[in-house]
Amino acid sequence: MNAQNHEPIWNQTRHLKEYPPLSQNESTEVAIIGGGITGITAAYLLQKAGKQVTIVDQGRFLNGTTLHTTAKITAQHGLIYDQLINSYNYQTARHYYEANHEAMQLIQSLIQDEQINCDLQQHDAYLYTETTEGITKIEKEFEAYDRLNINSQLADSIPFNLEIEKALIMKNQWQFNPTAYLSYLIQRLDQGSTKLYEHTAARTIEEKSVIMEDNTELTADRILICTHFPFYTENKLFSTRLHAEKSYVIAFPTADPYPGGMYLNIDSPKRSIRETTINDQSYILFGGEGHKVGQGEDMSTHYDALKRDAKAIFSKQPIDYQWSTQDLVTVDKIPYIGPVSKEQPHILLATGYRKWGMTNGTAAAKMMADDVLNKTDHKQNIFSPSRSSVTKGITSFIKENTDVTKHLLKNKLSHPKGDLEALNPGQATTLLLHGQRKGVYKADTDQIYMVDTTCTHAGCEVNWNSAEHTWDCPCHGSRFTYKGEVIEGPAKENLHHEQFSIIDLMKLNASQDNK
Ligand code: FES
Repeated sequence: MNAQNHEPIWNQTRHLKEYPPLSQNESTEVAIIGGGITGITAAYLLQKAGKQVTIVDQGRFLNGTTLHTTAKITAQHGLIYDQLINSYNYQTARHYYEANHEAMQLIQSLIQDEQINCDLQQHDAYLYTETTEGITKIEKEFEAYDRLNINSQLADSIPFNLEIEKALIMKNQWQFNPTAYLSYLIQRLDQGSTKLYEHTAARTIEEKSVIMEDNTELTADRILICTHFPFYTENKLFSTRLHAEKSYVIAFPTADPYPGGMYLNIDSPKRSIRETTINDQSYILFGGEGHKVGQGEDMSTHYDALKRDAKAIFSKQPIDYQWSTQDLVTVDKIPYIGPVSKEQPHILLATGYRKWGMTNGTAAAKMMADDVLNKTDHKQNIFSPSRSSVTKGITSFIKENTDVTKHLLKNKLSHPKGDLEALNPGQATTLLLHGQRKGVYKADTDQIYMVDTTCTHAGCEVNWNSAEHTWDCPCHGSRFTYKGEVIEGPAKENLHHEQFSIIDLMKLNASQDNK
C-alpha cells in the first residue's frame, strides 16, 4: 500500500496562473500579506466594498496551510463550547459560535452568489468517543450546545464499523473543495481592481510601509497580516503565545457508498473522516494522529497507524494521497484576530485557528474587512490579540510546552550519522559534518542538496518530512523546500544550503572520519 502522491489532494483543483513578484515601490489602500483563505477572502470582501487592495504572498497563493486542510466548514471545533463557558462565560462561547456560524453562512452565500463550482455539500458534523470516560465530556458539550441553542442531538452509534460509546451531532454543517473555491475568488480579484503578487516575501513593517526582502516597499493605509504565523508582531513575543501541532491525512478512493457526515473523535489518537469527490472519483479523507510538534514518532509510523485504522472501516484502500499539516494553537484556543497593538491600530493580524481554518479564517477575514470599513463587531473583542486572558495564561502555557523545548534540545544535541550510500533518489537524511548537523537530500543519482538544519527563525532543528519532501521546523511551523527555500514562515530567511555531487559529498564525509 504505497502512497502515490505526497501532496494534498486539493492540488488537483488548484488552478491558478502564476503572478509576478512586486518589483517596484507601490502604494495601495489595503495591503494584505498572505494568500491563503484569510487573505483571499478579506481581499474579495474589500474589493467588493470598493477598496484598492494589493495582496502579496512569499510563495504561491494557496500553497500553505489552506492547501493542507480537510476543508470541513463547521462550527463544531472538537470539544470547546463547554470549556469556553467554564473558563470564560456564556457570552464568550456565544460570540465564538456566532463568529464561526456566520463564517459558514458567508462561505455558503458567496458560493451561491458567484455560482462557484466547488462541491459544496451539507452534512451533519459528528463528535464521537469510543471510551466510557469520553461519555461525560460529550454530554457536557451537548449541554453547552443546548445553552447556546445549537441545533444538535446525541447518538449511540455512527454509520461505520466502529464500536462507539456516544456521539454528538451538530446539524446542517458544510464541506467543500477549498482550492476550487479560492481559485475562483482569486480569478475574481484578478478581473477586478486588486493587484496580486507572488514570490514576494514581506520582512518587516515600518510605519505604513511593508518592506520586502529585496527592499521594495508596499505602502498602505491599512495592513492585514494573514501569514499563518505572523511575520510581524511589533516585538510581541508570539513564540510564547502560539504552539504548533502536526497532524496527518491520507486519501483513498472508495467504491463503498458513503453514509454522509463529517466525523471527529475526542479520544487519543484523533481520527477525522469525510468524503470528497475529485474528477468524478469519490475519496475518503482519513486524518488524525495529531501531536505537539517535536513529540511525534517517525512520520511513517503516523501514516501506518492511519492506514491500519482506515482498513478496519473501509473495504478498499489503495492510498492515493498523503500529507501532513502544522496548525497553530493559541494560549486559550481562541484565535488572535485584530490590531497587532494599541499603538498600531492600522496593522491587523489573524492567526491560531487550531485546525479550524475554514471557518476561523473566514471569520477573521470578515472581522478584518469590517475593521477596515469602520464597521463595529462586538464579537471581535474575544479575539483581540491583546486580550487580558492571554497574558494571564502565558506562564502555564510555557510550562505546558517546555517538553517541546526539551525534545528540540535533544534533537539539537543528537549526533546523526546518515548513510549516504544507502540514500535513494527522493530520500533525505541528516548527518554531522565538521561538527554541524546537516540535512542532505538526494535529488537524483548524482545530485545532493545539503542544508544547515538550524531553522533561520529562532534556531530550532528542522526535520525531514518524507511525505512532502520538505524540511519542517517543529517549533513554530516554518517549512522549507529540500533546497532550503522558505515555503511558509515565520522564518524569513532560507536555510543555508549547498549543492554537491554525491561523490564530492561522500569524499567530504569520509575526510572527517579520517581525522
Ligand atoms: Fe521558529 Fe523554526 S519556526 S524556530
